[in-house]
Amino acid sequence: MKIDDIKVGLSYNDVLLVPRRSGVESRKAVDTSTSVTKGIRLKVPLMSANMDTVTESAMAIAIAREGGIGIIHRFMTIESQVAEVERVKRSEAYVIEDPYRITKNVTIGDARNLMSHSSVSGLLVVDDSNRLLGILSDRDIRFYKDDKDPVSKAMTPRSKLIVGKPGISMEDAIEIVDRHKLEKLPLVGKDNVVRGLITSKDLYRRMMSEKSAQDRKGRLLVGAAIGTKGDFIQRAQLLSQAGADIIVLDIAHGHADSVISAIKQVKKELPDTPLMAGNVATAKGVEDLASTGADSIKIGIGPGAACTTRRVTGAGMPQLTAVMECSEAAKRSGVSIIADGGMKESGDITKALAAGAAAIMSGSLFAGTDESPGFFVRRNGAKYKAYRGMSSFGANISRKMIDNVVIDPQEAFDIVPEGVESSVPYKGSMKEIVYQLMGGVRSGMSYCGASTLAELRKNARFIRLTHNATIESYDKLPEK
Ligand code: XMP
Repeated sequence: MKIDDIKVGLSYNDVLLVPRRSGVESRKAVDTSTSVTKGIRLKVPLMSANMDTVTESAMAIAIAREGGIGIIHRFMTIESQVAEVERVKRSEAYVIEDPYRITKNVTIGDARNLMSHSSVSGLLVVDDSNRLLGILSDRDIRFYKDDKDPVSKAMTPRSKLIVGKPGISMEDAIEIVDRHKLEKLPLVGKDNVVRGLITSKDLYRRMMSEKSAQDRKGRLLVGAAIGTKGDFIQRAQLLSQAGADIIVLDIAHGHADSVISAIKQVKKELPDTPLMAGNVATAKGVEDLASTGADSIKIGIGPGAACTTRRVTGAGMPQLTAVMECSEAAKRSGVSIIADGGMKESGDITKALAAGAAAIMSGSLFAGTDESPGFFVRRNGAKYKAYRGMSSFGANISRKMIDNVVIDPQEAFDIVPEGVESSVPYKGSMKEIVYQLMGGVRSGMSYCGASTLAELRKNARFIRLTHNATIESYDKLPEK
């Protein structure tokens, strides 16, 4: 390579979107819906990152309720990851097809444990042929003294239950639940066999949450990450069976032969499950993964808040340039791209979407919320939560501990981290965070005269900032 061949790469802070005449009447009139891949439509173009301090089921539920999607991280056993996906899929369906069931001889103590473990407020009691015998709700056992008694002593028996028919419409279910003031409406066939369950809480949520990201059955959307080694195919199969709407094949350097081979294998086993792959940062990377079968591609090498890849390895690509270059290639290849990492505020999200991303993925924007995994710590009177890169020392150790409990000290010493372990200030609930971020994005779209993301991509013009323009844009009075 010659010195004259070196191109300039830009980051979000190097540009601004040029304001233009706008016909958009209010921020509310702006439509931010997007298609991440075929079958995955979101009203809000946000994805929470598959990191162990960002996305498990609580985060995935919260972000999907706000219209985005969470990707459950893979740094746990297959069983645990499957359970996380199932928790999301069960959290808010209009019909729960496979409700938690127990038999009548189970003890009240065991039933209590199952309820608290699976975060449900009631269990259907059935016989060996799955015929309904009653319902045990948390209210039935709240003050019950003898945990060794069988549930048949405390349950509401079948004779006192109102039930619905399988296939009941949402309107009819609301009518019955409202008329009888029910918490739970079991669905049983003529043979009294349990075919599903409707809860008043889920019905109410469905009615109120027009924007939430849902599948055809009204369940919240969720994705799950896999790697390229070991039992990754089995992991993908089980996650897909559990209801994961998208599989994300995620490797730090996604433009690799191992990833291309893994995409082929996953697509062969699961041809109908949308597959996102990454990370790459060049047009060639997008072309190679797209031609192998990836439906959507994640863009970002080293922009993340907890990433040290660029410093440790010297490799990376400024994120705005990466997104723009990859977006052109994605258009040619017929796939979508996701801008992953490096966004610090809502304006950066607007820029990423204007640069051609179908949606953005972030870790640091969503870490430190009520719904991110982990504990709060108090430091100098303020609350913090851990946030760490998945290639950090601690994350590497945790990963090794999934399989072998004892870690060889030499193995730990040999780790070369490409991420840091940090913490971020407590930020409140995802609802509030998404509201603020999307308020900024909608306003940014209106500055660009865009009422849809397609218009934003078409209308957007970037201007590059000089050193003084950067100071003018970002050096503001501190908040006091
Ligand atoms: P933000 O900036 O949103 O970035 O916090 C989240 C993204 O960062 C990537 N990631 C890493 N990159 N070393 C890296 O170089 C790491 O340890 C690491 N952990 C996460 C990942 O793409 C994530 O979505």
